[in-house]
Amino acid sequence: MTGTTTTPPASPVAAADWDRLRAAAADAMERAYAPYSGFRVGAAALTEDGRLVSGCNVENAAYGVTLCAECALVGQLHMTGGGRLRAFLCVGGDGRLITPCGRCRQLLWEFRAPGLAVLTAAGVTTVEALLPEAFGPDALEA
Ligand code: THU
Repeated sequence: MTGTTTTPPASPVAAADWDRLRAAAADAMERAYAPYSGFRVGAAALTEDGRLVSGCNVENAAYGVTLCAECALVGQLHMTGGGRLRAFLCVGGDGRLITPCGRCRQLLWEFRAPGLAVLTAAGVTTVEALLPEAFGPDALEA
């Protein structure tokens, strides 16, 4: 059927890995540049080959040019060897889990391992669940 996405089973992410990601995201959040919104964000992810990548939001006087924390994260992903993401989370300035914005779900989609696990305040979900019927590289091949 066209336009549907099935989520293959992915290996579960250990609680200790979520803890590491949470600490790395909180660290990244401390480096945020958010003088306009005052809303600092840190994001962190584990790659399939076991690396940890992270990023913070970087705002701009031209508000719409703002880079979300996930932009820095995917930049670091590539700068440190590329690969695919298997677990992701992001936190706000108070350290609480937030859900990635719509644009950043698209960024995650591009670099996801199948079943990329996303931890939100509501629990663990997948990028496939957060971005149904996503537009991805395969659409360009059609
Ligand atoms: N923000 C992120 O960094 N990631 C998200 O997924 C949601 C929003 C940032 C952008 C802006 O600097 C601030 O949060 C307020 O929207």
